[in-house]
Amino acid sequence: MSRLIVVTGASAGLGKATAQRFAENNDKVLLIGRREDRLSKAAADITSSLPGADIDLLALDMSEADSVPRLQEYVKSTGLPVSGLVCCAGSALLSGGEDVKSVLTEWQDAYQSNVLTSVIAVEGAVPVMADGGSIVLYSSIAAYRGSGGTGAYGAAKAALHSYVHTLAARLGPRGISANVIAPGYFAGTDFFGDRLTAARETLLVSQTALGRAGDPAEAAELGFYLCSEPGGYVTSQVIQINGGSYHGV
Ligand SMILES: NC(=O)c1ccc[n+]([C@@H]2O[C@H](COP(=O)([O-])OP(=O)(O)OC[C@H]3O[C@@H](n4cnc5c(N)ncnc54)[C@H](OP(=O)(O)O)[C@@H]3O)[C@@H](O)[C@H]2O)c1
Repeated sequence: MSRLIVVTGASAGLGKATAQRFAENNDKVLLIGRREDRLSKAAADITSSLPGADIDLLALDMSEADSVPRLQEYVKSTGLPVSGLVCCAGSALLSGGEDVKSVLTEWQDAYQSNVLTSVIAVEGAVPVMADGGSIVLYSSIAAYRGSGGTGAYGAAKAALHSYVHTLAARLGPRGISANVIAPGYFAGTDFFGDRLTAARETLLVSQTALGRAGDPAEAAELGFYLCSEPGGYVTSQVIQINGGSYHGV
C-alpha cells in the first residue's frame, strides 16, 4: 500500500528533489509551499519524468498556525495517515539594516521562517501521523559555523537541533522517529537567490573535502532513508551532509 508523505518547501531545491524521491517509490506525496504556481510547476516536472506519480499540492504558509486545519483536512480526505513528514521550508532573509529594529526584524523573520515552519508542520501532522512514521527537519551547516550578518539564520537552525531531541523522546513511544538533516552547500536550489556570487560559490566548494557542491538528489536520498523501514532505528540525530565541509569562516 502506498504511503502518504508530506514535504514542505517542495516547490524548489531540496524539497522538490525530496518529493521526487518519494514519488519514485510510488508514495503518495503532498507538496506544500506558499506559491501555488511554483507548486504546480514542480508537480508537472515530477510527473513528466514519472507519469502516474501520485502528487497533490497545497499552497500553505507553514509559518502560520492557520495552515494546520487545512493540512489535517487534506490528510483526512486521503484516508491515509501521514507516514513521513519532511520539513524543508526555510529561508534566510536579510534585513540589510544595522539599527536595532532591523536586527530584531531579521531575528524574528529567521525564527518564523525556519523554526515555526517546522513546529507548525509537526504539530499539524503528529495527530494524523501513523505510528512508526518519520519526521525530518532541515537545519544547516550555519547552525555550526554561524551565518554572517546578524547571525539570526544559523541560530534559528540550531534551535531545531534541540527541538528534535524533545520530539524523538515524545514520539518514540509511538515508534515515530525524528531527525534533522544539516546540509552544507547544495547547487541548483533557489535558496541563495542573487546572494551567491561566483567568488562565494568557489569558496564554499573549496571548503569541502570532495571539492564539489551537493546535488539535491543526495539530500533527498538521506531524507528518504530516514523515512524508510531500514532507517527506523535512527532517531534524535542531527545528520550533516556537506561533502566534508569544514566548519569556520
Ligand atoms: N540550498 C542549500 O545549500 C542549503 C544549505 C543549508 C540548508 N538549507 C536548508 O534546506 C532547506 C531547503 O532549502 P532549499 O535550498 O531547497 O531552498 P529553496 O530552493 O529556496 O526552496 C525553499 C522552499 O521552501 C518554500 N517555503 C519557504 N518558506 C515557506 C513557508 N513559510 N511556508 C511554506 N513553504 C515555504 C519555498 O516556496 P515558496 O517560497 O513559494 O513558499 C520553496 O518551495 C531550507 O530549510 C534551507 O534553510 C539549504
